[in-house]
Amino acid sequence: MRVGVLGSGDVGKALAKGFKAEGHDVCVASREPLKKPDLSAWASENEIQIDTFDKVAAYGELLVVCTLWAGTENAIQLSGTDNFTDKVVIDTTNPLDLSQKPPGLLLGKDDSAGEQVQRWLPNARVVKAFNSVGSALMYKPQLPGGPPTMFIAGNDTEAKQTVSDVIKSFGWEVADNGGIEGSRELEALCILWVRHAITFLPSLQSKRRIA
Ligand SMILES: NC(=O)c1ccc[n+]([C@@H]2O[C@H](COP(=O)([O-])OP(=O)(O)OC[C@H]3O[C@@H](n4cnc5c(N)ncnc54)[C@H](OP(=O)(O)O)[C@@H]3O)[C@@H](O)[C@H]2O)c1
Repeated sequence: MRVGVLGSGDVGKALAKGFKAEGHDVCVASREPLKKPDLSAWASENEIQIDTFDKVAAYGELLVVCTLWAGTENAIQLSGTDNFTDKVVIDTTNPLDLSQKPPGLLLGKDDSAGEQVQRWLPNARVVKAFNSVGSALMYKPQLPGGPPTMFIAGNDTEAKQTVSDVIKSFGWEVADNGGIEGSRELEALCILWVRHAITFLPSLQSKRRIA
C-alpha cells in the first residue's frame, strides 16, 4: 500500500519505519518539511519520503493521523478533507491536557479524539489504534509474555480488518472495542500507562513528554 503518515513526531517516525519494513511505500507529512534539518536527515537515513500535509494526504491509500492533539484539526485542514474520502484512516492521537502533571484528558466522558476525528472526516473510515502504546513499542515489540494486545475502535468493519492486518504484521494481537465511541476507553488507556510510568519508572520523569 501507499501509506501517508500525517505527522513527523516520534509516532510518525516509528510507524513510517514499520510500514516501510513491511514493504509498503511511505511518505511522512510535516508543515514545512524542508525547514526541518533533523527530519530531512532522518528521512534520508531511512530512505523515507517527506512532504507537506496536502501532498502526503493525496499520496496515501491508507492515512495515519499522528499529530499533537492541539494541532490535529489544523493538520486535517492542511491535508484537505477531500483527500480522505473513502480512505481508511488510523487515528493515533490522544487529547492530552498537558497543563496537568501527569497529563489528563481533554475529552473522555461523552466524547473522544477518535469521534472528533471521525466528525471532521465524515467520508473517511476512521479506526483508533496505536494510541495506547509508546512509540518505541509500536513495531515488533519483543516482550517476555509474547505479542501484546492492541485495542482498536471504529465504525467500519472492513476498515478495522485492514487495520487489524497492519497491527498483526507489526507484531501485535488485536482486540476490537466496537464503534468509534470505543476510543473513549482507548484514550484513557494512554493516561493509565503514562501515570503508571511516571509513578513507577522514575527515569521517565525527566523526559519532556512520553505520549
Ligand atoms: N509519543 C508517543 O509515544 C505516543 C504514543 C501514542 C500516541 N501518541 C499520540 O500521537 C500523536 C503524535 O505524537 P508524537 O509524540 O509523535 O508527536 P507530537 O509532538 O504530539 O506531534 C508532532 C506532529 O504534530 C504536528 N503539529 C503540531 N502542531 C500542529 C499544528 N498547529 N498544525 C498542524 N500540525 C501540527 C507537527 O507538525 P510539524 O511536523 O509541522 O511540526 C508534527 O508533525 C499525539 O496526539 C500523541 O498524544 C503519542
